[in-house]
Amino acid sequence: LVQLSNRYLILPGMVDLHVHFRDWGLSHKETLEGGARAALAGGVVAVADMPNTSPHIRTAELYRKRVEQGSGLPILYKLHMGVPEKVAELDQARPRSVKIYPEDVARFGWQHVEKLAERCATLRCVLVFHCEDPAYFRNGERPPDAEVACVEKVRQIVHRTGARVHLTHITLPYTAEATRGWASVDATPHHLLLDVDNCKDPALCLVNPRLRTPEIRKRLLAALASGLIDIYATDHAPHTLEEKRSGNPPPGICSIDIALSLLLSLWKRGVVSLDDVVRLYSFRPSRLLGVDVDVARGLFTVVRLEEFEIRGSDFAGSCKFTPFEKFKAFGQVEATAVRGKIYFKTGETYSLQPPQ
Ligand code: DOR
Ligand code: ZN
Ligand code: ZN
Repeated sequence: LVQLSNRYLILPGMVDLHVHFRDWGLSHKETLEGGARAALAGGVVAVADMPNTSPHIRTAELYRKRVEQGSGLPILYKLHMGVPEKVAELDQARPRSVKIYPEDVARFGWQHVEKLAERCATLRCVLVFHCEDPAYFRNGERPPDAEVACVEKVRQIVHRTGARVHLTHITLPYTAEATRGWASVDATPHHLLLDVDNCKDPALCLVNPRLRTPEIRKRLLAALASGLIDIYATDHAPHTLEEKRSGNPPPGICSIDIALSLLLSLWKRGVVSLDDVVRLYSFRPSRLLGVDVDVARGLFTVVRLEEFEIRGSDFAGSCKFTPFEKFKAFGQVEATAVRGKIYFKTGETYSLQPPQ
């Protein structure tokens, strides 16, 4: 899996199953190309993009169009389909996964979600939940109870339909424990490392689901350390700094450039092993998405084993700010290889083919 010298580490390419590359009507926030650059800078060779674009990807036609556009990128591109109005749309699109938002639950109801689950059980798609029950949202408040209530709802749906379910960006140790045996879960760098005490900038720290208390956050990290969390994923969600600094900042944190380094910092601290790093951010997400990420297939990342200070201005995509500003991290991504090319931090690109 891993080769180690004193100064460098070669890892299988990272796989991020939760990113927002925007584009289309939101290209002022980020583009597919900008997102792919940020991914390569972070050692990520494959992503699964989210369907909350403008327009939202709810039809087979839009789904195909977007996948087609993504196929031209220098990284491997996958896409979670959005909730369709008519379940039969799934038969046309045949997505590997469907992303369900609290807004979808509020708009279409749990009944509709259950119908989707039935169809997905037959078609073998994975239901990916942003799991917060919108019935618990109160004038801008999104309490942890919303996650607990959603877990219960989804448990019943899985029980009745047998659908394969993944819960993304979980925030509670409770969720990691309560879903054992019937759902897989992922956690983000920000929910593992940031909380309401150590993240003070109200706009840059604003994200859905919300950051939690230090106590909850530390227990989530303990769940990661004890193997209860299956996958690590960023929820890389670019907005412009102007939007973030406006009176009504949108939720979202960008971290794909630094996510591997943050995870390797946890390795350095002894919280996770190097095998855990590869399992959490490469092997398990690659299995969920159906991509084959392997050093031998030319999908790898090279990391320099050195401490560095995180600076948003170094980010490679459109989003160049971060609540992790000035954090010390360990393990700089030096190069990322995918599709027969190796991309260096310096901006140089070389072909992996032998010279003619
Ligand atoms: O913080 C968030 N930002 N949470 C979401 O669920 C959506 C995302 C976005 O698209 O900006
Ligand atoms: Zn979400
Ligand atoms: Zn998201």
